Amino acid sequence: MEARKSTPSKSYKLFYQVYPLLLLLLPLILKSVSAVPYKIPRLTPHIRTILRNPDSNLSSSFLSKDFKTYFYTQILDHFNYGPQSYATFKQRYIINFKYWGGGNSSSPIFAYLGAEAPLDEDLQSVGYLTANAPHFKALQVYIEHRYYGKSIPFGSMEEAMKNESIRGYFNSAQAIADYAEVLLHIKEKLSAQDSPIIVIGGSYGGMLASWFRLKYPHIAIGALASSTPVLYFDDITPQNGYYSKVTKDFEEVSKSCYKTIRKSWSEIDKDASKPNGLSILSEKFKTCRHLNNSTQLKDYLDTMYSEAAQYNEPPDYPVTMICSGIDGAPNGTDILGRIFAGVVAYKMNMSCYDTNEYNYPSETSVGWKWQVSLFSHNNSS
Ligand SMILES: *[C@@H]1O[C@H](CO)[C@@H](O)[C@H](O)[C@H]1NC(C)=O
Ligand SMILES: *[C@@H]1O[C@H](CO)[C@@H](O)[C@H](O)[C@H]1NC(C)=O
Ligand SMILES: *[C@@H]1O[C@H](CO)[C@@H](O)[C@H](O)[C@H]1NC(C)=O
Ligand SMILES: *[C@@H]1O[C@H](CO)[C@@H](O)[C@H](O)[C@H]1NC(C)=O
Ligand SMILES: *[C@@H]1O[C@H](CO)[C@@H](O)[C@H](O)[C@H]1NC(C)=O
Ligand SMILES: *[C@@H]1O[C@H](CO)[C@@H](O)[C@H](O)[C@H]1NC(C)=O
Ligand SMILES: *[C@@H]1O[C@H](CO)[C@@H](O)[C@H](O)[C@H]1NC(C)=O
Repeated sequence: MEARKSTPSKSYKLFYQVYPLLLLLLPLILKSVSAVPYKIPRLTPHIRTILRNPDSNLSSSFLSKDFKTYFYTQILDHFNYGPQSYATFKQRYIINFKYWGGGNSSSPIFAYLGAEAPLDEDLQSVGYLTANAPHFKALQVYIEHRYYGKSIPFGSMEEAMKNESIRGYFNSAQAIADYAEVLLHIKEKLSAQDSPIIVIGGSYGGMLASWFRLKYPHIAIGALASSTPVLYFDDITPQNGYYSKVTKDFEEVSKSCYKTIRKSWSEIDKDASKPNGLSILSEKFKTCRHLNNSTQLKDYLDTMYSEAAQYNEPPDYPVTMICSGIDGAPNGTDILGRIFAGVVAYKMNMSCYDTNEYNYPSETSVGWKWQVSLFSHNNSS
């Protein structure tokens, strides 16, 4: 999935032309957006497509020396005044001055708000700022989210997460307060007091951008939130909101595909309950390691379908890809044979399929799991 490359299409170009309009319409968009890209923490490929500049050469712009790295001495706790609140850590931010008109001409500042990943990944993929900076003579600023990449208090993610009191400062309210400080610092350093700031983010980063604009209206005059599930929280949208969208995506692409998937879960259980059932399933799905329970297989398929729906973008259209595998299997293929054909269509022909593929720990998976637990905790209390 990571390696799958998208090429720009006409519809994207149209999308970008409409963007300046979206900027002005943000308050309306906030009301109407109910997108749900929320389950899968690996948001980078998504941001890659959504905020991408279809015309720029991303790898070369990333490597460009126009991007300069800085570290801001950030305060650990913006909201309390205990002794530990004054502890600091280094927060990374990156500036591209190339197109900037300067503070004297009140040229704007485009600020990309980092999300649940090291900033490097986004920098390689987010072309939106570079694409629009020349026209607006804008300064480009990219700020890393606390607890990711090179902005982790007290060293590694592992260390930070081990210590309850350190972990407690890992939340989105602290993160946008960080962004406020860094942006004010940059304005002061560059004597750019009159330069308006637009904050920009994708997915969770877009939520941060929206919240930033609401909470710090004196710092940002606008926010661009791309593919952002602003209101996707338990008790605001239905509890199964995510899966009902995933299901609908498949149903819209193909009724028979949708029905096959529907029926497959009980087929898996049925196979699993046979003597040697897990061996049969392991063989049917060519799993790299012997399955220990049917949940492993079901979780793998569940995540695969969700990922496909969440990133169902051109030119690949992964939902269509899976369904063409499922529907296109030779006549007479049974349900699980069709499901496996869907896996092969999506993941390509491999010698075996790693059902643990989605479970390997990374900064994003560890950090995001924690952040999501805060979201749901706050809402259920
Ligand atoms: C993109 O940049 C790389 C490295 O500078 C270069 O080798 C490549 O030819 C460029 N591709 C395009 C399409 O301009
Ligand atoms: C900006 O304006 C100030 C005050 O007029 C001036 O001192 C400074 O040199 C100007 N800076 C630039 C880069 O033009
Ligand atoms: C957790 O971190 C705090 C702040 O650095 C430190 O005072 C405390 O001793 C740490 N606790 C443990 C269990 O390591
Ligand atoms: C099943 O359990 C064994 C032993 O713990 C382990 O080596 C294997 O990787 C597990 N299979 C999967 C698919 O996780
Ligand atoms: C399935 O097996 C794995 C070990 O391979 C284990 O971690 C997991 O908890 C098991 N799940 C269920 C539902 O038994
Ligand atoms: C399966 O058979 C039907 C008619 O019996 C036919 O229309 C269809 O093309 C066949 N599909 C495949 C994949 O062979
Ligand atoms: C898939 O790969 C296997 C070997 O790993 C090969 O035998 C088979 O023919 C391939 N299938 C297709 C459709 O390429």
